[in-house]
Amino acid sequence: MGHAEDHALGGLHFVRREWLPTSPAEPTTATDRGPGDSTEAPSWGRFTARRVGVSGAGCGCYTSRMLDPEAPALVLAPMEGVTDAAMRAALGESGAFTYAVAEFLRVANSVPGPGVVRRHVPELFTGGRTATGLPVQVQLLGGDPGRVADAAAVAHAAGAAAIDLNFGCPAKTVNRHDGGAALLRSPPRIRAVVAAVRAALPRAVSVSAKVRLGWDTPDAIDAVAAMAAEGGAAWLTIHGRTRAAGYAPPALWGPIGRVRERLGLPVVANGDIWTVADLRRCRDATGCRHFMVCRGALADPRLPRLAAAELGLAPTVPADEAARPADWAAALGRLVWWAGRFPGGTPEGVVRRLKQWLALAARHGGFAGFEAVKRAKTVADLLSGVGAASQHAPELDLRSIGDTSGASAGGECGKP
Ligand SMILES: Cc1cc2nc3c(=O)[nH]c(=O)nc-3n(C[C@H](O)[C@H](O)[C@H](O)COP(=O)(O)O)c2cc1C
Repeated sequence: MGHAEDHALGGLHFVRREWLPTSPAEPTTATDRGPGDSTEAPSWGRFTARRVGVSGAGCGCYTSRMLDPEAPALVLAPMEGVTDAAMRAALGESGAFTYAVAEFLRVANSVPGPGVVRRHVPELFTGGRTATGLPVQVQLLGGDPGRVADAAAVAHAAGAAAIDLNFGCPAKTVNRHDGGAALLRSPPRIRAVVAAVRAALPRAVSVSAKVRLGWDTPDAIDAVAAMAAEGGAAWLTIHGRTRAAGYAPPALWGPIGRVRERLGLPVVANGDIWTVADLRRCRDATGCRHFMVCRGALADPRLPRLAAAELGLAPTVPADEAARPADWAAALGRLVWWAGRFPGGTPEGVVRRLKQWLALAARHGGFAGFEAVKRAKTVADLLSGVGAASQHAPELDLRSIGDTSGASAGGECGKP
């Protein structure tokens, strides 16, 4: 049994996460469990986090329970159209992540109401955590300070404990409508949005910003980061690419380290962490102790666990276990299980989502059997194809998949 410890900085209390060995329990539905309730978990254990209150006693720093500046963190990235609530619950089972950021909620011409916010981030019904206990941060995207601030207030009233602001989305449609990376061209506008959101929320509610290095030049990050900090961001997540670079490798980690040194705020380093070796190199290049993984967590389902161990967030993985290939059937099976616990999942939608996951993994070298599954029409066919490829046939109750509406086939943010 691990130990838990509360940590206070300037009057704000953080959560120390606590490692617990697993005692597998029969899962119930996402809606009938309370925040932090246990669920089926991997055999090696899980994290639990003791929630402690945040006090607003002033220190000029607004960090709350999402990110402890003093402790390492592994963050599950937002991926619009991919890391929805079911995927967050499934990936959260690993116990490896410190928190997850939900996919962006766009604030365009109108302010979303609480129902919209809760449908977008259903974890707000369960104390802001996945049913597997992972804290989830709401992310907003928009260029109008007043409307984004109003949306942040709505999200907070709906239960959000922390708000992230997206200044990195490279999608043309989003940028044309003055959102995401478009604001990188004018760092003072980033300051204005962050400051308006900061002013709209109680001090105990964290506001963070997720940025790219710049619109078309990586040097822009200095002004971008300075403006976000001036606006009152408690921490920055920096994706080490410009908007012009899209998703082309390599991510530039050097500028992230420069900002971390100069800024005096926690910086979450993001971009091209595909392996534990990448994580080590990124840590060396940036000096960061906080990392966000995105595509790597899907390309290799073992990565979160191995990365958490590397950061001291989880016990060391025994060498024979670390050398074992990913158990794709098990990983996909968990997503199927969770997809059945959220409204709106159809069997066809789940098939699309599984193929999307495997296509991404195949593209990045983590899954070799895509040809065998790409024409599968049903979850059963797809999983038996995966099982044949990995010699490990999954056992699933496919009745758990609902039949009310379609699942998203993928998001804009991944397509600059
Ligand atoms: C399909 C897709 C959707 C994404 N959606 C979001 C999003 O909603 N919000 C956001 O801040 N970043 C989004 N991103 C960016 C990722 O969070 C991350 O910053 C980026 O992929 C770099 O990390 P990686 O190299 O580990 O993949 C998205 C990326 C992809 C590929």
